[in-house]
Amino acid sequence: MQPRRLDQILANYGYCSRSEAKVWVRKGRVTVGDVVAKGAEKKAPPETVLVDGQPIECLEGILVLMNKPAGYVCSHDTDEGPTIYDLLPAQWLRRNPPVTTVGRLDKDTTGVLLITDSGDLVHRWTSPKHKVTKIYEVNVNADIPTGTAELFAAGTLMLESEDKPCAPAHLEILSPREARLELTEGRHHQVKRMFARQGCEVTRLHRSRFGEFAVGELQPGQWKLLALPSP
Ligand code: URA
Repeated sequence: MQPRRLDQILANYGYCSRSEAKVWVRKGRVTVGDVVAKGAEKKAPPETVLVDGQPIECLEGILVLMNKPAGYVCSHDTDEGPTIYDLLPAQWLRRNPPVTTVGRLDKDTTGVLLITDSGDLVHRWTSPKHKVTKIYEVNVNADIPTGTAELFAAGTLMLESEDKPCAPAHLEILSPREARLELTEGRHHQVKRMFARQGCEVTRLHRSRFGEFAVGELQPGQWKLLALPSP
């Protein structure tokens, strides 16, 4: 990696602020290889930098696939309860840029959630223009009315307080109160609102696929780092 200023490296990877980096260097906590760093403005290749004798984690970009557990919010606001960021290394939130979710799942929704520090990826995967396919497993509290699949497929379903109908969506009814729904949009609470239009309340919602990504072997709350796709 290209040499960069030590304070910049430590701040960008979320270890501390640039001013704290100066203090850490002054206290001799930062080494480059086995040589104690002389100044926070000195440059070094990131992979040669250690803090308190530990090599720093120098991930150039982050893309995480999580199996989101129920009970966690996709928000930085801790007032709403535990957040999905509680499940990740704390320093990732202090990185510059910080990590963020690719779209959001409701607190009670489980399944595929992507988290990244790349604004480009967030845009690419959430923009309606790109029509990324999302598959949801849905359970509801009443029998799904006849004609629901046809209505969802027609591209005419209007959600409350919206002026544009939902894009055509594929609904596969698995049993009277259970279905698989494939969407290419990601409107706020979209699945719950679509079923509410049909008089059904969603009692369980699991996203089994987001584009090419599925949770696979990941248990709820588990996550793994993925390679960043090429631009
Ligand atoms: N639609 C919803 O209603 N909730 C989610 O969490 C995701 C899609």
